[in-house]
Amino acid sequence: MKSIKTTSLEQTFKFGEKLAEDLKSNIIGLNGDLGSGKTAITKGIGDYFGIKNITSPTFVVMKIYKTLKNNSKIKNLVHIDCYRLETYDALLDIGLSDYINDNKNLIIIEWADKISDYLPKDTIYVNFRLGTHENERIIEY
Ligand SMILES: Nc1ncnc2c1ncn2[C@@H]1O[C@H](COP(=O)(O)OP(=O)(O)OP(=O)(O)O)[C@@H](O)[C@H]1O
Ligand SMILES: [Mg+2]
Repeated sequence: MKSIKTTSLEQTFKFGEKLAEDLKSNIIGLNGDLGSGKTAITKGIGDYFGIKNITSPTFVVMKIYKTLKNNSKIKNLVHIDCYRLETYDALLDIGLSDYINDNKNLIIIEWADKISDYLPKDTIYVNFRLGTHENERIIEY
């Protein structure tokens, strides 16, 4: 497992762009405390695919964005936030497995540990920790 330290929101965003450039899986699971940068990195990944309007899906569980990048195999970015979920049922109802099984989708899941039993083996997990300074974040991936 690799790890980097970022010291600003912008650096975490940029790391998201880099991760998107060299994607190893269509499913990315993000874990880490409240305010640790999960939505920030998602915005960076989205930016790589030409999506500029990502906002946290905490209250709606899932948001779908069309990618705007030419020649990309990825056509949709599906952003999920499990923070408020008690069980997997809500995601079953939404049809998450259909989204997962369509490799034109890039699925990014905040609080992914809550549903890791249901995620494919090749899911890439990215873990966030707060550093010692206010704007420091340790990102393991
Ligand atoms: N190095 C950093 N990387 C990312 N965010 C940072 C950093 N330093 C400070 N911040 C601040 O931390 C917050 C990160 O918020 P973000 O919404 O990305 O967290 P989150 O992990 O998605 O939280 P939640 O679990 O509530 O969804 C922002 O307010 C951002 O300005
Ligand atoms: Mg968030």
